[in-house]
Amino acid sequence: MKCTRKTLACVMAAIMLLLSGCGAANTDNTSESAKETAVETTAKSSTQRHKVIIDTDTGSDDAGALVLAATSEQLDILGVTVLFGNVPLKNAADNALMTLEVCGSDAPVYIGAEKPLKKEREEMISVHGKDGMGDQDLIHPKRGAEDGDAVDFILDTIKSDPGEVEIIAFGPLTNIALALKKDPDTMKLCKRLWVMGTTGFGVGNATPVAEFNVYSDAEAYDTVLRAELPMTVLGLDMVEIEETKITEDDLSKMAQGNKNGVFMSKAFAKLFEFYRKSGNNMTLPDPMAVACMIWPDMVLETKSCYGLTCVGDDAAYGQVILYQNGSVYEAMPEISSYNLDVVTKIDAKLFKDRFMSVMTD
Ligand code: RIB
Ligand code: CA
Repeated sequence: MKCTRKTLACVMAAIMLLLSGCGAANTDNTSESAKETAVETTAKSSTQRHKVIIDTDTGSDDAGALVLAATSEQLDILGVTVLFGNVPLKNAADNALMTLEVCGSDAPVYIGAEKPLKKEREEMISVHGKDGMGDQDLIHPKRGAEDGDAVDFILDTIKSDPGEVEIIAFGPLTNIALALKKDPDTMKLCKRLWVMGTTGFGVGNATPVAEFNVYSDAEAYDTVLRAELPMTVLGLDMVEIEETKITEDDLSKMAQGNKNGVFMSKAFAKLFEFYRKSGNNMTLPDPMAVACMIWPDMVLETKSCYGLTCVGDDAAYGQVILYQNGSVYEAMPEISSYNLDVVTKIDAKLFKDRFMSVMTD
């Protein structure tokens, strides 16, 4: 009998039915072992300091994430690598340098990718303002970026401390993909990749099915997901939780807050206006990604998944299809490992309270 995928899927579904005895082909993968794994990971990360490289396309929410990272006792920032995305590369570098300066961080900044791996960089309307930081004439960094290149910095840093360095990326994954292409064996020594990207199990913002960081360079996402590095993914579904968003009242509290809060209240001006125009409060995608790392008690549930990135030239470009461990579909791709821990439940109030106290205490 030719074993087609369909046959295999039916066989697997039959096995699942027998095992589960309840007739549901799809099972919730937060099995005891999976939950323990997630809880163990969370518990472990709540005590240890993380040695981390931050990869960013520094728009204003990225800057908010840099403030959380630079003021956290949980992180030892080894360096910041920047790339195109929300804004052109030069703005991303200057915005990162300025934000780190405001926070009193001397973390080195390295210049990375100016454009996607394959497609031409699309000039997107930057919802963050022309300069990416609210067009408030905030950006006058005293220091410049380092001479070295971002990809070499990533590889050299991981090589110098194998198994200990983590990367948190909240822009397109072009720098990470370039590092994987240049030296895949070294990248396998990266302890964990934390990513703000994909729609999670929700809807897109670049298209109905694609989230902006993936849409900006889906080929890069495809390269990274195929490398099967241990990866925690925060998707737009978590970002859209209402209790996590910034209201007008929050923004004015920040404006009367500490120096980081005052700076960020100005940097958020255009992003806040963008959301206000559609009657919404402002989301904080990138700060939430950093929060998953520095406040692990915020993460209440993750699901282990396999992610398949759509890179065709059709309307699905940038969609990441998430196959949950334990779910069986009629058409299954070849899955070698469920390496993605996708965040599926968070403590929204904890996140918002802690974010606001970083900006106002
Ligand atoms: O979709 C949200 C993501 O796209 C955030 O990282 C934001 O900064 C933009 O890069
Ligand atoms: Ca970003």
